[in-house]
Order: sequence, then structure tokens, then C-alpha cells
Amino acid sequence: ATERTFSIIKPDATRRNLTGKVTAKLEEAGLRVVASRRIRMTREQAEGFYGVHRERPFFNDLVAFMTSGPVVVQVLEGEDAVARNREVMGATNPAQADEGTIRKEFAESIEANSVHGSDSPENAKIEIDFFFKPEEIVG
Ligand code: CMP
Repeated sequence: ATERTFSIIKPDATRRNLTGKVTAKLEEAGLRVVASRRIRMTREQAEGFYGVHRERPFFNDLVAFMTSGPVVVQVLEGEDAVARNREVMGATNPAQADEGTIRKEFAESIEANSVHGSDSPENAKIEIDFFFKPEEIVG
């Protein structure tokens, strides 16, 4: 079914001017950008967004990284968008990512891994609502 997912182009990618190349990979995978905004995340936003990881050893570094430069938050729409997006992103750790995936081609490390994507339709809705108002999404 047609669904929506939430994506972030992370600071390591915006820093290297890869916004277009990452977006092209998403589009080539059959995903449509139905909302997009370039922002500098605040610490509060990053901590709230990654709240489920609060107890993890990498949490503080992750928040510092995600606030270290601009990010592009996006809503993607398409057939099985959550799964498709996860496929084209590749594994969290770029060393384990398949050939042709965004993280294989562009990611620098397990932290600076160029993109975030929702891991389930339920979380997609929560994450979309965290950054976008309904009228900012134009399908
Ligand atoms: P993301 O999909 O945005 O979700 C959590 C993020 O934490 C992950 O991508 C990485 O950027 C970052 N991270 C850093 N270290 C780790 C780790 N050891 N395991 C998982 N995620 C990590």
C-alpha cells in the first residue's frame, strides 16, 4: 500500500554537499519527496527525536553530531515506503551495507551514516508529526 516514511539527510552528508545525490537515490528507489525542510536541529529537538536511545552509550555523541550542522528533514511517500527506504539506506553500519545503498556509497561511519529512516510505519507517523504540520506535506 502507499505509505509515508520520515527521512533525515544528516550533517555529514549536507557538509559534503550530497543533499541532491542522496535525494536522487531515494527517488530512484521509487520514493517521492512530499515535504522537505533544511534546518539546524536544536539540542532539545535531537534529544527528543532520539529519546528511545537516551540510555545508549552513543547518545551524547549522537546528539552532538546531529546538531553539528544542517540537516534536511523529509517526508517520503510511495509503495511500502518504510521498507523501500530502509532497503535503499542500507545497514546502519556502512561497513555492513550492501552495494548500491546510500550508506555504502556515502556514509563515513556508524554514527556519521548520512541518513536516518523510520524503522516502522508506527514510528514513521510519530517522527513525521515531530517535524511537520499536515499542511506542510503535499502529496
Ligand atoms: P539512526 O538510524 O539515525 O538511529 C540512531 C543513530 O545512532 C544511528 O542512525 C547512528 O547515526 C547513531 N549511532 C551511533 N553509534 C551507533 C551504534 N553503535 N549503533 C546504532 N546506532 C549508532
